[in-house]
Amino acid sequence: MNQSARKQPELPERRPPASGRLPGTAPLILETLADDDYALIDSGNGQKLERYGPLTIVRPEGQAIWQPALDEKIWRQADAVFTGDTDEDGVGRWRFPKQPLGENWPLAWRGLAYLGRFTSFRHVGVFPEQAAHWRFIEDQIGAAAKSGRQPRLLNLFGYTGLASLVAARAGAHVTHVDASKKAIGWARENQEMAKLGDRPVRWICDDAVKFCEREVRRGNSYDAIILDPPKYGRGPKGEVWQLFEQLPHLIDVVRELVSDKPLFVVLTAYSIRASFFALDELMQEVFGDAGGRIESGELVIRTLDSDRTLSTSLFSRWVAQ
Ligand SMILES: C[S@@+](CC[C@H](N)C(=O)[O-])C[C@H]1O[C@@H](n2cnc3c(N)ncnc32)[C@H](O)[C@@H]1O
Repeated sequence: MNQSARKQPELPERRPPASGRLPGTAPLILETLADDDYALIDSGNGQKLERYGPLTIVRPEGQAIWQPALDEKIWRQADAVFTGDTDEDGVGRWRFPKQPLGENWPLAWRGLAYLGRFTSFRHVGVFPEQAAHWRFIEDQIGAAAKSGRQPRLLNLFGYTGLASLVAARAGAHVTHVDASKKAIGWARENQEMAKLGDRPVRWICDDAVKFCEREVRRGNSYDAIILDPPKYGRGPKGEVWQLFEQLPHLIDVVRELVSDKPLFVVLTAYSIRASFFALDELMQEVFGDAGGRIESGELVIRTLDSDRTLSTSLFSRWVAQ
């Protein structure tokens, strides 16, 4: 890695704070429950046991500081186990105690087919708690599409494209941006799996901040924007992404990109030392005079057959209507 790739860019001045504050709800807890293809079966002792379609999987979970509710025997029957760092991007490896498994396997959400995958860094190609946002996106885009519109949606840090495909299926014209060529490749495979090849999705490998700045210069706008930035990341040309330094600027730019017929902006953050109030304040500062409302809180997963709840991420969303 060369020194220039490490350098943080000079950030432009912030836009002036909004003159008002919007009404809203905080905290709003958005729960994901078990469905046909996903369940949080148990958690505890720094791990979680989940089911993804036919496979049960054990992975590190730093927040599970309690003891597991289920017998160890059930945990030992898992098809795949990731051992390693509990850190979000910690290193480790997959182990398949019963039989060797391929790199991917079919899954679906509300009939939208996609692939689960054993990736490095313990991820499985999907963040199931995002289903709370998918439901919201589906409702909002679906309602706009019913009234004859084709809303333009921008998905930043889009990973394997599930939110993009949910939006495309509901009737949006989608622009999906991610810095990883590999992730864009997986997202395209998911588009094929979902048989949504005929839907308008632009798959763009770019740095999220640079792309947005360019879109503002080009005079482009979007009716809906979703972003799920990591704490730390890299653009395709080594651009440094540090959430605490760059998120305020990115939200300023996102505000510039909002069309004059807006629907929503959904911001999620995970694995950061912050409260949802931090995201809420930032969204109030930038969207406080935009009309509508701001809802902020946590995305959580409810354990199968139990009231136990696992928090996964923070979110704040601006809803125009
Ligand atoms: C954890 S994923 C987001 C998950 C996604 N919202 C979902 O539910 O599937 C974070 C993504 O950010 C991408 N990323 C990291 N730094 C980036 C940057 N500077 N610009 C664009 N994408 C970036 C990574 O390649 C990764 O795919």
